[in-house]
Amino acid sequence: MTTASTNRERRLAVWERWWSGVDGAPGEIVWDANESDLAADLDVFGVAFDPELPLIDLGCGNGRQTRFLARHFQTVVGVDISPSAVERAVAAENPANVSYRLLDASTPQQAERLHHELGDANVYVRGVLQALPPAARPQAVNSIAVLLGEKGALFAKELPPQAADYFAELVQRHGLWPGLERVMELIPPGQITEPQLVGLFPADRFEVISTGTGRIDTVNVLPDGEPIAVPAIYVLIRPRRPGPDGPRDPRAGRYRVGAVGRASWGTRPETQGREDRDHPHRRGLRVPRTTDRPPTIGQQALRLHLRLQTRRWPR
Ligand SMILES: C[S@@+](CC[C@H](N)C(=O)[O-])C[C@H]1O[C@@H](n2cnc3c(N)ncnc32)[C@H](O)[C@@H]1O
Repeated sequence: MTTASTNRERRLAVWERWWSGVDGAPGEIVWDANESDLAADLDVFGVAFDPELPLIDLGCGNGRQTRFLARHFQTVVGVDISPSAVERAVAAENPANVSYRLLDASTPQQAERLHHELGDANVYVRGVLQALPPAARPQAVNSIAVLLGEKGALFAKELPPQAADYFAELVQRHGLWPGLERVMELIPPGQITEPQLVGLFPADRFEVISTGTGRIDTVNVLPDGEPIAVPAIYVLIRPRRPGPDGPRDPRAGRYRVGAVGRASWGTRPETQGREDRDHPHRRGLRVPRTTDRPPTIGQQALRLHLRLQTRRWPR
């Protein structure tokens, strides 16, 4: 077995262990997001995604975003490395235009099989590239390139270093809740800066349509009722098309191509919690107060910081 495949096995084991132990506790799926989160993102990527193409939610987890996406796109396929995640996604109430597959983004051969089945597709990625070790990210980009083909576009929303600072600050104020602790125990931390994210997509193969900053507006709330909204960055990208003599672009003129656009959507009042801010499910996900706090809150924050800085993926 090669080192690369051993590392893939390890990553699969990490995510499988995490997903197979999910038991529905409040605040457990730290990244689980509102539809309002997607609504804000749709304003950004909706213009670039050809609605005729299937959409792949790469690293779909429990399929929550996949189901939201299915309200806006004809055919949506959620893929994930973890069989337990896919089982959860399949077991949920899914609309007819959603299906799920097992797929490891760092294995482009798997992407080739899916592309063979679906043809060119749009790709939506949230919180996945940053979670891969840097050495595995180019392989994931190769998989994405295969899935996009010539006509697809990619929207990737990921966590920058500011996300770790944000969590450290939450822990300082409220203590470490069990869901976050479990993530920290089982999943090596990942982060990616905007230049690193953009840099994953070489200019000879991809065109950056826009990049920007914002938040992941989660379903979880703090003990004082404040929603957990994690700093995020995004990139909207499409494959570089052949020159003027190449195939005609059916979406030409619909957006500016080539120049890096910049947007900061924050959490706009008109979309924040548009659908589920007051939903009882969301209220039910209030993060519990920690009962067995370590000696001081500052030490917890420090512990979080230290773990974030020292635990690393196998390369
Ligand atoms: C932080 S979660 C985000 C889940 C989902 N995208 C969301 O935003 O709710 C990362 C997801 O990526 C999946 N994942 C990690 N590495 C992967 C890989 N190499 N290929 C496919 N999925 C992967 C994990 O199993 C997990 O479900």
